[in-house]
This record gives sequence, C-alpha cells and structure tokens, in this order.
Amino acid sequence: MSIVFDNEKHSFTLTTKNSVYQMQIGPLGYLLHLYYGRRAEGCFDYLHLERDCGFSPNPYGLQDKRGWSLDTMPQEYSGTNCGDFRLSSVDAETASGQCGADLHYMHHEIRPGKYTLEGLPTAFGNECETLSVTLRDETAGLEVELLYGVFEEKDMITRAARIRNGGSGPIRLRKAASACLDLPFGEWELVHFHGRHTLERQFARQVLMNGIQTVASKRGASSHQHNPFVILCEPETTEGAGSCFGVMPVYSGNHRTDIELDQTGSVRVVTGINSEGFSWLLEPGQCFDAPEVLLTYSPSGFAALSQTYHRFLRENVCRHYIPLAERPILLNSWEAMYFDFDEDKLLGLAGEAKELGVDMLVIDDGWFGHRDDDNSSLGDWFPNVRKLPHGLGTLLQKIDSMGLKIGLWVEPEMVSEDSELFRAHPDWALRVPGRAPTLGRSQLVLDLSRPEIVNWLFETLASLLRELPIAYIKWDMNRHLTDLYSGSLPADRQGELPHRYVLGLYDLLDRLTKTFPDVLFEGCAGGGGRFDAGMLAYCPQIWCSDNTDPVARLSIQYGTSFGYPISAMGAHVSTAPNHQTGRTTPFGTRATVAMAGTFGYELDPAKLTAAEKDEIRQQLKRFRALRSVIGEGDYYRLAAPGERRFTAWQQVSADKRESLVSLVLTEPEANPRPLHIKLKGLESDAVYALREAAFFGCAASMPQLRLTGSALMYAGVTLPIMLGDTPSVQMLWQKED
Ligand code: GLA
Repeated sequence: MSIVFDNEKHSFTLTTKNSVYQMQIGPLGYLLHLYYGRRAEGCFDYLHLERDCGFSPNPYGLQDKRGWSLDTMPQEYSGTNCGDFRLSSVDAETASGQCGADLHYMHHEIRPGKYTLEGLPTAFGNECETLSVTLRDETAGLEVELLYGVFEEKDMITRAARIRNGGSGPIRLRKAASACLDLPFGEWELVHFHGRHTLERQFARQVLMNGIQTVASKRGASSHQHNPFVILCEPETTEGAGSCFGVMPVYSGNHRTDIELDQTGSVRVVTGINSEGFSWLLEPGQCFDAPEVLLTYSPSGFAALSQTYHRFLRENVCRHYIPLAERPILLNSWEAMYFDFDEDKLLGLAGEAKELGVDMLVIDDGWFGHRDDDNSSLGDWFPNVRKLPHGLGTLLQKIDSMGLKIGLWVEPEMVSEDSELFRAHPDWALRVPGRAPTLGRSQLVLDLSRPEIVNWLFETLASLLRELPIAYIKWDMNRHLTDLYSGSLPADRQGELPHRYVLGLYDLLDRLTKTFPDVLFEGCAGGGGRFDAGMLAYCPQIWCSDNTDPVARLSIQYGTSFGYPISAMGAHVSTAPNHQTGRTTPFGTRATVAMAGTFGYELDPAKLTAAEKDEIRQQLKRFRALRSVIGEGDYYRLAAPGERRFTAWQQVSADKRESLVSLVLTEPEANPRPLHIKLKGLESDAVYALREAAFFGCAASMPQLRLTGSALMYAGVTLPIMLGDTPSVQMLWQKED
C-alpha cells in the first residue's frame, strides 16, 4: 500500500521508493502538509510547533490559540483571503464579488489506478494508486478535489486539482494552481532553465531571495524563455549527493511556478497555469481541471532525480513511446535547402539519403501553398504546384519506392494573411476587434479554442496522413500568442482563451495520434520553444533547438537533460560553418553531440566530400549499434559545460553491461594538463573492457584497457592529449563475462 490513512492521527502517508509525503487533517479541517522528503517512519506533526508570530492571524474558531495561524502552518493547498498571506493556490470570486477561498476537509478516497483529467495529458500506469481529498469553502460553495497519484516503484508522485462549483451561483476562478508544496525547514536553492530562441534551457542555480521568485510564461506556449520545470536543492547538493525535489508541470501553455521564501524561513512552491490573464467561469456543478504536476524527491543528487524523470516520462507519460532503437534516422531538408527546393532537388536529396543509409527524408517547410519564404501560405496544406508540379502524392510515391520513409513538416496552429485559408476565414485568427494584430514571422495564430477550427485541422491533416505514405510529422509553432480575443467566447469568458487554446491543441494531437498510432510526431516550436511534459505525451521527441552548433548544443542539451530523456531530444548533424553561429567544428564532434539525442542529419550530402560521406556511414553504423544504450540507458552528466575545459556525459545500460562515455573538449590548451574523468553507474566488481575509443577532430588513440568498475568510477580514466578545435571522443565500455 503506497497510500495509508491513519484514523487516529487523521494523516495520509504516501510512500515511494525513496520518499515519504505526509499530510494531516488539522484543526477546523484545514489540510496541513507535514513532510516530504527522505523515507522516514512516523507521524511528522511533532515538527510543526505553534508560535505566536506577530501579525499572522488566527482562524476564528481557534482564537484561543494565538500560536496557530494559516500564515505559518504548512498547507497542502493554500487558500486566499483567510489568513495565509503567502502564495495562494486558488482564488475565486462569487457573483456578489466575494473573493477568496477558505478550504476545509470534506472527505477522501483511496483507490487503485491512476486518475485522469478532462482534456489534459496525464501520467498513466496500473502500478499507480490514487488519493483524492476533497476540501470545501462553505461560503462560496467552492470544492477542490486534490488528486495524488503515487507511483511507488517509479518514485513519482503526481498531483492535480479539480475545482468544482458546488454552490448555487456562478463562481469565477482567478487562480487555479495545480499544486502547492511547502518545505517548512531547511535551506533551499532554486535550479531553473531559462533561455531564448536558439539558446533554450540554460541551467541556472541560485540562492533563494526572501520574497517571491517566478518561473513563468505568458506567451501561450511553455516557451524558450523559461521551461516549466524547477528543482529545489540543498546548498550542498551535487550530481551524486544531497537532497533535491523536482516540480514539473505537464503543461504546454502559460505556466507559472512561484517560489516564496517567507518570514519564517519556510519555502512554498505554487505551480500550475499562469494566473496572469487567466479567469474561468464555473456555473453551478461545473468543474475545472488544473493540469498535472510531476513531483519527485532524490536523496542522492541530481543524476538520480533526472533518471527518475527520464524513465517516468518515457514509460508513464509518452503515450506513443517508441524506443529510440526503433525510430527512423532522418535527413531533414531545412538546413539543406531551406525554401529553395523543387521535386528534382528533393528526389536528389532522397537519393543521397538512401545511398548513405539514412532511413527517412523529412520535407521541411516550403512544400505547400505558394510558400517560397516565411511570408505566406500557412494554412494551405496542399502542395506547392510550382515546386511540385506532379503533386505531393507522386513525389512521395517516388521516395517511398526508393525504400525511404517520409516525414513532413506542418505548422497547423498558424495562418498567413497571404493564404487561401485566411481569405476564406479571416475571423479564424486571434485578434482584438478593431485593433491591428501583431505579427510574428509574418503570421497569425488560429483560434484553437474553437472546436470547428480544431475539427477542420483534424480533417485536413488526417486526409494528408490517410492518403500519403507519411511516417513522421514535424509539428511546428513559430510564434507566440498575442491579441487574445476569441469571437466565439462571451465577454465574461475571454480570460479562458489561453487555456482553451491549449485544450484545443491537446484535443487535436490526441485525435491525430490515436487515429494514426504508427506515425511518429516530433514536436517543435522555433526549435525548443515548447519542450515540456505535456507535448511529450503526444510527441516522443521534440526538436531541441534551432541552434545546431554542437558547442552551443552542449549547454542546451545539458540543461534539457535535467528533466527530459535523451530519447526526447531532437538533435541533428548539420554543416560547417554552422548556419547559426558561423563556427566550424569537426564533423565527428557534431555527431558526438547529436548522438546525445535522437540523431539525424540537417545538411545537403551533395555538398559533402567523399570522405565526409564515408564518415556519415560510420556514424550511422555507430549510432545504430549504440542507440539502445543512448535512448534507454541511465544518463549521467560527468562535466558541465563551462565548468572545466570539456563537457562530458555517459549512458549506462540498465543491466550495466554497456556504457558509452562522450566528451567534447571546448577549451584547447597549450602544454595541456591531463584530461581526467570518473565514470558513474557501473558495477564496482565487474571488469569493463574499452571496446572502442573513437576520437574526432584530433589525432589521439587509447590502448586496450580492461579495468574494474570501481577503478573507472573512483580512480577514473586519463585521456590522451587532444589537440584541435573542439575535438571529441566516444568511448564504449563493455562488461566482460
Ligand atoms: C522552425 C523550426 C525549424 C524549421 C523552420 C521552418 O524554425 O524550428 O527547424 O522547421 O521552422 O520554417
């Protein structure tokens, strides 16, 4: 039993492999948070002492207890306007203008299996047990059902909140967080992942300031700028030791995680939909489901925390997970040709791809409408007759008959003003009546809150997938949401638009992925602008960044790896000089970095030398041999970008028989100090042989080594001198029988 209710203590204890999470029905039915952390036995109410904290009010029913305040007691889901001045979790307004939420325990239920949420992606799995605790604000008639999914073996606790109008008049939600997590004791630091287009998910770690710090997006997408994932860790936490908590909303729209360090030194994390610009009207009896959040605790550092998320996302969140070893290796036309292609050029590219041994050609942007640049045609999902005079069907048949799989780029959520779709339905784009809309990449956003638009998109894309031999879809989104106004929503529901947009998107993806379960969907949003657990439910891989420079990719993929599995990270080898940074790197180093992801190509092989083409054949061979351990192995960060002269990482197969170590030297040195790394995750007593040490961009080699796991992990390995511009090495270690 991973969930236990103690009748005497009125406490709920949720247990996972490494953690215990406990709450208690306290005085007046307030649901108090007692403990979340390393596994320990007992009831933890003894931790929370009453003390009269000046200016912290007492509930009316406890006026004799001046030391008891909602403002200082840890809460499970904080209310508003009822004595807790810290971050609130929910705020509601009644028809008469009363605001706030004062929530008291009503009832609970423990049941086998996993709860689901209306229209939202959620984790799944029979190994889960669900706890539902319902709280109620009697005055407003507001009910909050707190949902907990406990995946004991997977070490994951999911949380969500279902908010119901249990009163007789309308209620307007002004805030509806998914979860509140109080960490009443200890010192915590915040790890978050910020960035911009072409530099997503940059790792940052900082000491908490007193007051509130925020990780959020109000761009309509989870964004390049701030990923919906944070970690709270102790000051001494490292990759291999120390406590840390992960908080990962399963959501792709406007998210917000606030972290407050309060007057008592207590930390509160409130996470979910961004309340800025949000409101939701609930008529009596109606419910609102706030998105799910994935919580995990690691007593042993970041590596274990990341591995828990990696495994959980692969096995319990991705609805259509395909092991990396079974996914096609692709060549994408974007950086090869951009918009400048026609049937002959694509057939030429397909021929090159086939000859090199790539599995799939992806036809990126430019195949539809009259699209020659990014100013037109989004919405016109029929072939560009100038470029493809014999139609898309003929072209795809020809590629198909070469024995290549085919992928197609689409950007369904958007419309260009210069398009047949816009001319027919100008009202389908988001815009405020009477105000000129802002443009992003010359395009407007379709109002996905409207079911008829979602239906049209489903039919349009389904007919492409039905009629053509398409194995893969790259689903792009190249601008953010502005001009928020929907012609189909009444005035008092306009605040629902951003969330309804995301629900429309999820509905569309849900229907398409269920109707076409064999099609691989790769998410994309101007690179990695919507890289989140919500999108991963439908797309097992997401294009990590439009920046394909391997050195820039080191920090992007490093940051991404804290929460997301390697099998999710779209990564390609591109040409040099790199199109985004102008940097030239060795061909092999580009592959070393792309192999820390889904691996593929984004270049025109016709422009390569024979030697480079041979290198591609070698790379394909190596990746095919290694991709099980890359995709499904345990991932370790050995050296962070910028910390030392090199960045290094390692994958270890589940049975610990095989391990791939990759290292990129970013700071070459004259008269260099030795390069030394310590491996992780091996069997101490087993003997590992160095099966291959492939160096790229430098003349170096290693002797045949046979070493014990303990030697590799504790004494480490010294690498030969690597001279050159960003050379790299891939070492494959195999356990001997
Ligand atoms: C976005 C994607 C790119 C490419 C272009 C096409 O920027 O991230 O990979 O598909 O759109 O316009």
